[in-house]
Amino acid sequence: MAQAKTLGQFIIEKQADFPYAKGELSRLLRDIGIAAKIVNREVNKAGLMDMQGEAGSTNIQGESQQKLDIYANEQFITALKSGGECCILASEENEEIVMLDTDVSLDAKYIVAIDPLDGSSNIDVNVSVGTIFSIYRRQSTSGRATLADVLQMGVNQVAAGYVIYGTSTMLVYTTGKGVNGFTLDPSIGEFCLSHPNMKIPKTGIIYSINEGYYVHFPQGVKSYIKYCQVEDEATHRPYSSRYVGSMIADLHRSMIKGGIFIYPVTAATPGGKLRLVYECNPMSFVIEQAGGRATDGKNRIMELDVNSLHQRTPIFIGSEQMVLKAEEFMAEAV
Ligand code: AHG
Ligand code: MN
Ligand code: MN
Ligand code: MN
Repeated sequence: MAQAKTLGQFIIEKQADFPYAKGELSRLLRDIGIAAKIVNREVNKAGLMDMQGEAGSTNIQGESQQKLDIYANEQFITALKSGGECCILASEENEEIVMLDTDVSLDAKYIVAIDPLDGSSNIDVNVSVGTIFSIYRRQSTSGRATLADVLQMGVNQVAAGYVIYGTSTMLVYTTGKGVNGFTLDPSIGEFCLSHPNMKIPKTGIIYSINEGYYVHFPQGVKSYIKYCQVEDEATHRPYSSRYVGSMIADLHRSMIKGGIFIYPVTAATPGGKLRLVYECNPMSFVIEQAGGRATDGKNRIMELDVNSLHQRTPIFIGSEQMVLKAEEFMAEAV
């Protein structure tokens, strides 16, 4: 079987797709791929390297940071700083924006928002975790880029994607012209094209939500869950319930098999738990580009106003028909 196209070859081939095709976005994607390979190496042997467990620090989210949260964050900062194409990094693990515009990258035009390790609670139990990234062009045209360059609406993203460190390690991304998936071939240390032109099924039979919070869910979500559980042969119900606890794993499954993922408001998270800038906007860009739908139960995620770095939002995302059905229950309950 012919060697599959590597990520690097694919990026170069698609370079002409980029409106600013001077190679900068290509190099930025390459830098992200390099950091992902380094993180993958540590994820795969975390248990051997004392890289499991808590780091003893708490992030701005109020979460206890895992050693791998911090390690992954450092790898992406290092790769993006040395690559020279990124002027600001916004990360789940940093309260403020990280200025990367060193002398090398004074004219860097790109902003990267990242969840360096998604699903941290799964690290120590050997369940898939991932990285989520979102890329914008700076809007300001002079001086140093600022926070305003980061707080852009999701529709402004020029690229977005995720890495899933699972049974195999995959990098899935979009630049607004469809979605392509690459699988890491450890024998050559390259991401190779394995899932060209990914499309999420328009409907499915899997719903994904942490039902442990059921009592605190809005009525519309409770009604939708009951709809999923009712016997109806014509619509293949009852659906299956699957919930990994890593957003990227639940969404990657939906990309392949179809399904809906919901993280609604709960008593503990009245604004939702998932973060708009580095979880919901990038995953919404990928899912929409694959033919799916992503809203907060009513409004399109990528058109939500972005007012702060660690802003949260409820999210209903996945197969278009399933998200639309859940939105019907949300509208009825109002
Ligand atoms: P992170 O590990 O980056 O903080 O993200 C965890 C998120 C997301 O990956 C997952 O879907 C969700 O938290 C799970 O939350 P619950 O444990 O409350 O279900
Ligand atoms: Mn976290
Ligand atoms: Mn996350
Ligand atoms: Mn995280």
